[in-house]
Amino acid sequence: MASLTNKRILLGITGGIAAYKSADLARRLRDAGAEVRVVMTQAATGFITPLTMQAVSGHPVQQTLLDETTENGMDHIELARWADLVLVAPASANFLAKLNQGRADDLLSTVCLATDAPLAVAPAMNQQMWLNPATQRNVFGLKQLGIKLFGPGSGDQACGETGPGRMLEPEELVDLVAGQFVTGTLQGITVMVTAGPTWEAMDPVRGFTNRSSGKMGYAVAQAAVEAGARVILVSGPTALKAPERVEPVNVTSAREMHDAVMERVAAVDIFIGVAAVADYRPKAVAEQKIKKGPDTLMIELERNPDILANVAAITDGPFTVGFAAETENLLEHARDKLQKKHVDMIAANRVDQTELGFDADQNALTLISTSGQIELEPQPKTRLARELIKHIATGFHAKNTTEDSRQTYR
Ligand code: C5P
Repeated sequence: MASLTNKRILLGITGGIAAYKSADLARRLRDAGAEVRVVMTQAATGFITPLTMQAVSGHPVQQTLLDETTENGMDHIELARWADLVLVAPASANFLAKLNQGRADDLLSTVCLATDAPLAVAPAMNQQMWLNPATQRNVFGLKQLGIKLFGPGSGDQACGETGPGRMLEPEELVDLVAGQFVTGTLQGITVMVTAGPTWEAMDPVRGFTNRSSGKMGYAVAQAAVEAGARVILVSGPTALKAPERVEPVNVTSAREMHDAVMERVAAVDIFIGVAAVADYRPKAVAEQKIKKGPDTLMIELERNPDILANVAAITDGPFTVGFAAETENLLEHARDKLQKKHVDMIAANRVDQTELGFDADQNALTLISTSGQIELEPQPKTRLARELIKHIATGFHAKNTTEDSRQTYR
């Protein structure tokens, strides 16, 4: 199936009987992973209701250019900027003419003029209207403007005639839309990233945490999105804003993080544990703030679940990548972790160098797997994350190819 993970498709619907297929089209675009928003012309609403399109797209449908109810939503410029691709399906003869002339007299034509995203039209009309030299001149003009023509197909028409002018079927349109995007190394793959510190409460106001800022985990999530993945980011408390297009899940303690991961892991292909999870938590959490008392205070701690090891232990589970932040004997500890936790790859980093590691913008990593060791030089975390994702994708695809061929052999 075509993959449109993370892609934002603006579906424009104009007035034509083929509009009844637009509901199926929107549903199929979403099934392929796209987020879909719909803009309808006045004429389109005579063929299919905005309510139907709202239900299948999951968003309110926009219809008019000057609408005070969209003040808090998206106006035409925001919609134009939001889209990765605008598809007008069905596109009527009238709409093709307007588009060719650069008119902006309703919301849809204005968005088409205001967007710098690729624009595609799926014409649908009576065969005589399609063959009319005026329409053909418009089609010629649209091609010169760089607008993509998807179809039309040929065959029986709703008006009883036979010939060119049928809108392409929704599944053909989804494939054509998917073909407009350069696919990334993780296209169609689901990635889960844990990030940030955890907070282990000892009373209502105090607790144990660590110096993780979440920057590395958030950068890894962002890089995975850029590579085309659907990304679930399970994050402990940080001051960071989740990158666009990730599905954020916010947690506080290690146990909450563990539960959030386990609830969702069945759908995950690659798990990357970047979070600095607390190994221990206070055994008892005081209901009230603990008062000052004797000179020394004993707090008993108990072990937290090891999220990474538990994910790696799942039969036929995801490709697992762990982080090893160490202050000494980095590679030794990292190799040890690779074996003990049965993960596919460990990204090791020194956290005793002040300009690198925790809370810093720069980092350096050594990637360790059973197939060897790779050094990633000191660089900004965003760039480093992209390199890391590239290596993870290579490892993931190599493992899957081996497993597939083993299954075929069996
Ligand atoms: O054993 P250590 O804590 O050094 O291992 C670090 C790696 O394990 C990181 O990838 C971290 O996200 C993960 N981890 C975890 N759950 C824990 C402890 C660590 O997922 N309770």
